[in-house]
Amino acid sequence: MTKIISTINLKGGVGKTQMTVALAEFLSLSHNKKVLVIDLDPQTNATVSLMDETAWRTKDQNGETLLQLFKDKLDKTSRFNIANAVVKKVSNVGGGIGNLDLLPSSLGLIEIQDSLPLIPAGRFYVTSPVTILRDAISGILDQYDFVLIDCPPNLGIITLNGIYISNYYLIPSIPDILSTYGIPQILGRISNFKKEIGTDIEPLGIVISMYRAQSKLHNSVIQDLKVKASQNEYPRVFKTVIPLTVRTAEAADFSVSVNTLRQKYGYGRVYEDYEILTKELLSYV
Ligand SMILES: Nc1ncnc2c1ncn2[C@@H]1O[C@H](COP(=O)(O)OP(=O)(O)O)[C@@H](O)[C@H]1O
Ligand SMILES: [Mg+2]
Repeated sequence: MTKIISTINLKGGVGKTQMTVALAEFLSLSHNKKVLVIDLDPQTNATVSLMDETAWRTKDQNGETLLQLFKDKLDKTSRFNIANAVVKKVSNVGGGIGNLDLLPSSLGLIEIQDSLPLIPAGRFYVTSPVTILRDAISGILDQYDFVLIDCPPNLGIITLNGIYISNYYLIPSIPDILSTYGIPQILGRISNFKKEIGTDIEPLGIVISMYRAQSKLHNSVIQDLKVKASQNEYPRVFKTVIPLTVRTAEAADFSVSVNTLRQKYGYGRVYEDYEILTKELLSYV
């Protein structure tokens, strides 16, 4: 069965997209899983780090990104075609990873996201149109072992469309006050949503990103998260921690082609850390 995992944090800039892309690449290349990345974030960072920007802009203009899917609902049209929208063999590693596909996002989602609540909640909608994504991709799901959804940093309708189809969600977070601030809100809101729609969405855990070993704050926040996890207030904190490095930031550049994941993520710790993170993730799902 396809395992669908959303990554979410209410704060931007916590390394969420980088982690989602890396997990997708490691699952597909190192573990031979068939993976689809769905970029729900209007910031389109996952999209442009996995595919050529010019090709993406053309697709966006042709109605072959998620913008068209949501626009169809507003305009009562049906232009979106999932088979045309999905980009096969994405990533700058090895000229594209055979097992890795992408459903691209669009900057245009920023403009339409506020109008989405105006779509009438029909028979299949709970209180808002949260099944749009499910209806669009249900026909292709069985082609994949994993679907990773990069959510925007909010719990709006677009995010809920991703959560709706997810079996699990991951919370990447920098171990500081602002990045962990929204965790109770995420847990509470998704738990309520889960009750409303009557399906099971399991919090897989918190993954520490951009960790600085010398930082007293980072270490004390991690300690605090672990205490809350041990009291079942929070989900588990992953054993694997992604450190802050210069190399990771460079890895997001699609225009730099590399041959291997080791080359992309550097010969140092980062490659190993993502490799271990992927294995840890696989041990929980
Ligand atoms: N572990 C890391 N070390 C250093 N820079 C990172 C790391 N992870 C991500 N980055 C960089 O930080 C910025 C924000 O990361 P990103 O993954 O886009 O965050 P988010 O999706 O949470 O907004 C990007 O420029 C990215 O390349
Ligand atoms: Mg992002």
